[in-house]
Formats: sequence, C-alpha cells, structure tokens
Amino acid sequence: MIPRTTTSAAAENAKPDWLLAQTITGFYLHGHRQFNPTTNLAARCIMAPRKGELLNVENSRKIDQAAELIRQAERIAVLSGAGVSAESGVSTYRGAGGIWSGFSAEELASPQGFARDPGKVWRWHDERRMGLRNIQPNAAHRALAELQHRLEARGGSFVLATQNIDGLHQAAGSNNVLELHGTILAIHCSACSHRRHIGFEAIDEGLPRCPNCGEFMRPDIVWFGEQLPQDVWTAAARAAGACRLFMTIGTSAVVYPAAGLIEIAIAAGAKTIEVNLEETPASHAVDIALHGQAGDLLPRLLS
Ligand SMILES: NC(=O)c1ccc[n+]([C@@H]2O[C@H](COP(=O)([O-])OP(=O)(O)OC[C@H]3O[C@@H](n4cnc5c(N)ncnc54)[C@H](O)[C@@H]3O)[C@@H](O)[C@H]2O)c1
Ligand SMILES: [Zn+2]
Repeated sequence: MIPRTTTSAAAENAKPDWLLAQTITGFYLHGHRQFNPTTNLAARCIMAPRKGELLNVENSRKIDQAAELIRQAERIAVLSGAGVSAESGVSTYRGAGGIWSGFSAEELASPQGFARDPGKVWRWHDERRMGLRNIQPNAAHRALAELQHRLEARGGSFVLATQNIDGLHQAAGSNNVLELHGTILAIHCSACSHRRHIGFEAIDEGLPRCPNCGEFMRPDIVWFGEQLPQDVWTAAARAAGACRLFMTIGTSAVVYPAAGLIEIAIAAGAKTIEVNLEETPASHAVDIALHGQAGDLLPRLLS
C-alpha cells in the first residue's frame, strides 16, 4: 500500500487496546510515546517494581533463564532493530556514528523531503542500498533463523517483525519476515500501486519513473510520519498478542508504533526478553533484560 502521512494527535490515540483492534493502523513516529505512565500499560510496569531488576542475578544466570524460556515457548514473536545489523557493519539510526547524526531525517526520509528534492533523496537511498551489497548477515541474524527453523520443526510458531530495511534476516534464512518499515531493496510508485523488487540492480538512469503512470518511483521504505503497511502491522500486532514469549532485540524501543509491540505482548501476558547493548525504555518493563552484543548473546541463548 502507499503509506500516508499522519499527525502526532493520531499517534496519541495509539493505545495498546487500540493497537490490538483488527482495524489497527500504524504510524511511523518516534519519541511520542516512550512508555509514558499515563498513557500505556508498559509504563505502568515501570511504575511497579522493576521486573528485570527483581531477578537480581548474574548475567549468566539471566542467560540461563532466558534460554529456558526460549526452550519452553511454543509461540515466539520477535521485534528486531538496527542493533541486530550493527555487527554486520550497518550503522544504527541513533547515537554516535548513527545515520541521523550526520544527516537530516526530515530532509532525506520524509515525504516532504522527497517532494522538495526527489533526486537528492533518491541518491542518498541508492548509495545506502548499494552499500549493502557486500554486507553479510551476522551471528544474531543466523541465530534467529535457526530458532525459527527449530521451533517450526517441532510444530511451534515463530514471527519475526523487523524495523530493518536491509534484508539481512532473509539473507540469513529467516522466512516470512514482517518488514515493518519496508525494504530498501524495492521501490514503489509515489502515485499508483506499482512496486518492483530491485535488489542490488544498478539503476543508472537516476530517479526512475513508474512504467504505469510516469510518476517518480521511490524507495519502498516507510518514512517518518508515514503509515506502516497495514497488513504487515496487523500481522505483527496479532503475533505479539498471541505469543508466549516476546523478544525485543537491538532496538532503542522509541520508534512507534513498532515499540508498541512490546506493550501488546506484555498486556497479553507473554514473557519478555530484551537483548541490547544498553538500557532502553523497555528494559524495566521486560522480564529479562540482557545487555551485550546480539551476535554474542543470541547464539548463547540457543546453545
Ligand atoms: N539495518 C537497518 O535496516 C537499519 C539501520 C538503521 C536504522 N534502521 C531503522 O531504525 C529505526 C528504528 O530504530 P531502531 O531501534 O531499529 O534503531 P536505533 O538506531 O534507534 O537503535 C539501535 C539499538 O540497537 C542497540 N545496539 C547497537 N548495537 C547492538 C548490538 N551489537 N547488539 C545489541 N544491540 C545493539 C543500541 O543500543 C540501540 O538501542 C527503524 O526505522 C529502522 O527502519 C534500520
Ligand atoms: Zn505509478
């Protein structure tokens, strides 16, 4: 679908029960609802004793506990973020060296920026796309693919929703990945429904035109302020609401509605594990928060 722009007022209405409704729509925002105590369930968990801290155990003990949760769960849902690809050499979005520390998101990753200077936005995305050509999945991607295959082989269900646009989960062997923010490996028409997978094909003519209507094609990415593809979002929200174990991995948990999946899982009574280099707004709401590199921790959780 063609994403639409929205307002922060729409985001404020995005409560967990609203997110669970079948008619849910997701809007790509960040910073609006950071586990705010007055607006959502996960925040109430923050006000309560810190679940992650109550475990009060060594990291290795927490790893054992998390590994046991993974072994027992028949339905697992995962939210992954840029941190999962960091060890492959793909920059994260925020923080030192992050993509937005050197560029303006408004200028390069918003429909307004594209309308102002489509050529500039295209060139920036095209460079990023071609820069991914020689990037390989890392141990974290491979562990998640392995977990999916193991779980499905014994009749369980596994859903991986990613905010990443780099295609590395699929390259590692994950199937049916829900790409919440689209993919840089495809383009879609800015006016009609035409979409094309381009992978790493070189597009020498510059900004391509739609073969159907002649308008500009653009990266198949959900930009800031745009609506997430509704079918993808609905599937992710359903999986978060139905799983017994939810894992949030390598995400700063501040970009909504993706971060809202954690709240949905908690509200539905799932066990929750976070894997991140550092604390995030979700760290105190999850059952087990593991701090370290995803490429190190995930294989250990499965061994
Ligand atoms: N690879 C990609 O496709 C890519 C790259 C950059 C940003 N994004 C976009 O970022 C936005 C969402 O933000 P986000 O939360 O995914 O990224 P983010 O940059 O906001 O946060 C990255 C998180 O990963 C953690 N992290 C970094 N290295 C890690 C590692 N080795 N192991 C574990 N955790 C690590 C950081 O502490 C941080 O919390 C999305 O819109 C997504 O589309 C995607
Ligand atoms: Zn078109």
